[in-house]
Amino acid sequence: MDAITYRRLGPEVAGELLTVQRAAFLSEARAYGTLEIPPLTETLDDLRRELESSLTIGAFLGRRLVGAARLTLEDEIGWISRVGVAPDLQGKGIGSGVLEALEAAAPSQVQRFQLGAGAKSASNIAMYEARGYREISRTFDSVGIELVIMARER
Ligand SMILES: CC(C)(COP(=O)(O)OP(=O)(O)OC[C@H]1O[C@@H](n2cnc3c(N)ncnc32)[C@H](O)[C@@H]1OP(=O)(O)O)[C@@H](O)C(=O)NCCC(=O)NCCS
Repeated sequence: MDAITYRRLGPEVAGELLTVQRAAFLSEARAYGTLEIPPLTETLDDLRRELESSLTIGAFLGRRLVGAARLTLEDEIGWISRVGVAPDLQGKGIGSGVLEALEAAAPSQVQRFQLGAGAKSASNIAMYEARGYREISRTFDSVGIELVIMARER
């Protein structure tokens, strides 16, 4: 496989990102038995706004967008979300790579990274644990899915 490159995404790629995000998160929807999970209900306009207001890093294979991850600031906390990789390219290090690129691109105010992973998504939780994230609490999202809140000091 050619090298993957990582770069910040702007609102002009919202449509392409919507396609990749919906494809990537379908497996999570299946696992939890609902299509109403936030990565699937976000609209094109929502994504455009997010691309303007938060930091999203994309992974590219040549010119193709194949993965992404988002960082939203809350004082010294950088919330990571929407870590997703195109279904045909999962398991090849792209998810870990985009997470690392996002962490590296976070502004200096960020002292701690936090994220929520579905409690039943063991391989996702293992990926974050392997990168130094630890469970700090649990909560439920807007559709009642239990989330493990994980954190890593910068
Ligand atoms: C989760 C996800 C982003 C990981 O990206 P990836 O490129 O497939 O993962 P990597 O190749 O970097 O592998 C890192 C770890 O991810 C975990 N993992 C999670 N989903 C995986 C998948 N479908 N295939 C392979 N590994 C997966 C494994 O623990 C793996 O650890 P290993 O390297 O020790 O085997 C990607 O599989 C995906 O888009 N899944 C659907 C959307 C999703 O669940 N996002 C996370 C929300 S918290």
